[in-house]
Amino acid sequence: MTNDALNQSRDEADQTYEWKLQKEAEFWGTMAKERRKGGIPMTMDFSRATRYRVRRSVLGWGDYFQDPALEALTPFGRARIKFVNTVRNEPGKRALDLCCGAGWLALELARSGKHVDAVDLSLEEITVAKEYQATLEEEIPGRINWIVSDLNTYVVDEGAYDQVTSWDGLHHVQKIDALCSAAARSLKPHGRFTLSERTWGGEKPSKRARIGRYLEEHLWTIVPTPSPMTYRRKFKQLFETWKTVFRAKVLRKKNLSVRSQTRVEGFCSPFEDTSGPEVLAAVRRYFDIEKIESYGGFTEEILRSIYLPRVLRIPTVLVLGWLDYLVVRAGLLEGKITMVYARKRA
Ligand SMILES: C[S@@+](CC[C@H](N)C(=O)[O-])C[C@H]1O[C@@H](n2cnc3c(N)ncnc32)[C@H](O)[C@@H]1O
Repeated sequence: MTNDALNQSRDEADQTYEWKLQKEAEFWGTMAKERRKGGIPMTMDFSRATRYRVRRSVLGWGDYFQDPALEALTPFGRARIKFVNTVRNEPGKRALDLCCGAGWLALELARSGKHVDAVDLSLEEITVAKEYQATLEEEIPGRINWIVSDLNTYVVDEGAYDQVTSWDGLHHVQKIDALCSAAARSLKPHGRFTLSERTWGGEKPSKRARIGRYLEEHLWTIVPTPSPMTYRRKFKQLFETWKTVFRAKVLRKKNLSVRSQTRVEGFCSPFEDTSGPEVLAAVRRYFDIEKIESYGGFTEEILRSIYLPRVLRIPTVLVLGWLDYLVVRAGLLEGKITMVYARKRA
């Protein structure tokens, strides 16, 4: 065995499930701490979130602009407000929030008087959330019970909750079918499951999803974005994408399989997009879907990263946001994010 091959097999062996889980928890803990610098992140407090530039360059990532008032004018922002109002007004007191992260949704539920069991893998992230919430002077009528646990193995209280919620986390959970089944069992009869998820991708993304992704990558390369995402770096990344696509095409023509990436490198979530479209399939198996909406065909990242003076950023974000919405509504592209309003099957 060559040294390279030996190193690679060692790397892959090191990446056991437990190791990846630990990296996942650390990743979100670090992310929560970084986001907290300079403002109140929406991931922590939706009602009090401030407008600021979220600096992530120490992590090797591009900065982005959090602008709650502007987001509220985009179709996705409006849908998020509707989502929050729905879960706040759902009858019954007991709620379970899955992949709660730094706790913004659990906090909104508690503000409306719910008693929330908020579950997440990352102790560090939950600690950041608790520390922030301890600084709030308002009277919060509900309460949050924080639970640090891996949702792949979490045992639910059966028939305990009036509603289950989740925002942007289930695509990190491998055993998504088991989790959705558990979510259904945890609900009282006719209880509601309300979730927003990245349902894009999967093993075989649809043609519309792939077109959206390429469009987003090209557009993202062209539009000005903050440091460290220089044009030089972005064009290099785009070139790498072209190379990968070309290689995959050649291999497929020669009937060779394209080896999926198993190594986890750099600062990233090891379980990013572990499940995607499978989330929807699993929800459909255990729940009756009342409403389903899709957003973000080709501008999901871009809308937060456009590096222009605010007076120009506002119209650009609005035009791109609404154009994206119309293109997804017309069925020309597949939205990356899906909001689902579902009820426990009778
Ligand atoms: C994209 S963040 C979303 C967090 C939060 N819902 C929000 O909207 O800000 C994904 C979250 O899923 C959590 N997570 C990932 N894998 C998990 C697992 N196996 N069990 C529980 N939580 C997990 C991460 O710790 C992280 O907080």
